[in-house]
Amino acid sequence: MWSKIARRAEEYAQVPAEALLRSVETNSLSRAFSLRQVPRPALRTGGLGTTTYSEWCFIIGYWQAFLGTWMPQERPIRILDIGCGVGRQYLSLLPQIGPDDRYVGLDVVSRSIDICRTSYPDARAEWIHVPAGNGFYARDQKGLPAWPIDNAAFDFQLAVSVWTHMGPADFRFYLGEVARTLRPGGRAVMTFFILDERYAETLAERDDGESHLYPQSRSLWIFDRPFPGEPDFFSRQKASVPEVAVAIRETALHALLNELGLTVVHRVSGTWKERPSHYFQDILVLERAG
Ligand SMILES: C[S@@+](CC[C@H](N)C(=O)[O-])C[C@H]1O[C@@H](n2cnc3c(N)ncnc32)[C@H](O)[C@@H]1O
Repeated sequence: MWSKIARRAEEYAQVPAEALLRSVETNSLSRAFSLRQVPRPALRTGGLGTTTYSEWCFIIGYWQAFLGTWMPQERPIRILDIGCGVGRQYLSLLPQIGPDDRYVGLDVVSRSIDICRTSYPDARAEWIHVPAGNGFYARDQKGLPAWPIDNAAFDFQLAVSVWTHMGPADFRFYLGEVARTLRPGGRAVMTFFILDERYAETLAERDDGESHLYPQSRSLWIFDRPFPGEPDFFSRQKASVPEVAVAIRETALHALLNELGLTVVHRVSGTWKERPSHYFQDILVLERAG
């Protein structure tokens, strides 16, 4: 109770502190042009868990480098940002989108799409609301509609912290949509919580102390709540609804990717597994068979 009140007070204090910092810094920015467009605090709702200005800036920079390294080099390029939230990865991509390129952000939360439309006026960008259900993000919507997108329409796709919020049915169906809408030879960068040997190895270390690798308890990221009838998918006992965080067994994920003709060309094992890395979640770079 008191810690919640203290947290809320801290959030309120951050608003004027951030306004002051940003007004002082705006004219001094010399490289990171896109940071000028970071939405104000009340609009930064899409990136669950990392809503402070400084963490947003860090994450924008991280993905600018990672996506720039792995996106196909040919231009013009067509980019699909799945679960775009309020446009954080759009800001990472901004210095990399050329005049003839096309960027599409899609999300199940219509308010997030509205925020993107008004925050980022850009003729190269399009924002699509997909009225799919999600137990955490979109409880008022039901079903799994296909994306209003042609087959093989995109060269590059990204989904940052999106399949980590999907139950088994959504997870499978929308991975199929990735394979359908990615062109042969195209790439996708996606994050997951993958239950593998490294995860199993660290379970014994997961007491309630703070992790050395991220400022949360080591016991928070234990996936101990199986989905009924789905032995490969897990959520957390401590979460209010399963879609707060979803993990999949590595063998099941690889079988699914194989079936869909998606090959893993690069992987990053995240710090959530209590081992050093440069990102929190697991990242896969996938290529669709040509
Ligand atoms: C943790 S947020 C990440 C947002 C953004 N990628 C970022 O890193 O700032 C997860 C996003 O996935 C979206 N989402 C959940 N299920 C989805 C689905 N089936 N299709 C598209 N987006 C979905 C949520 O609405 C939310 O915006």
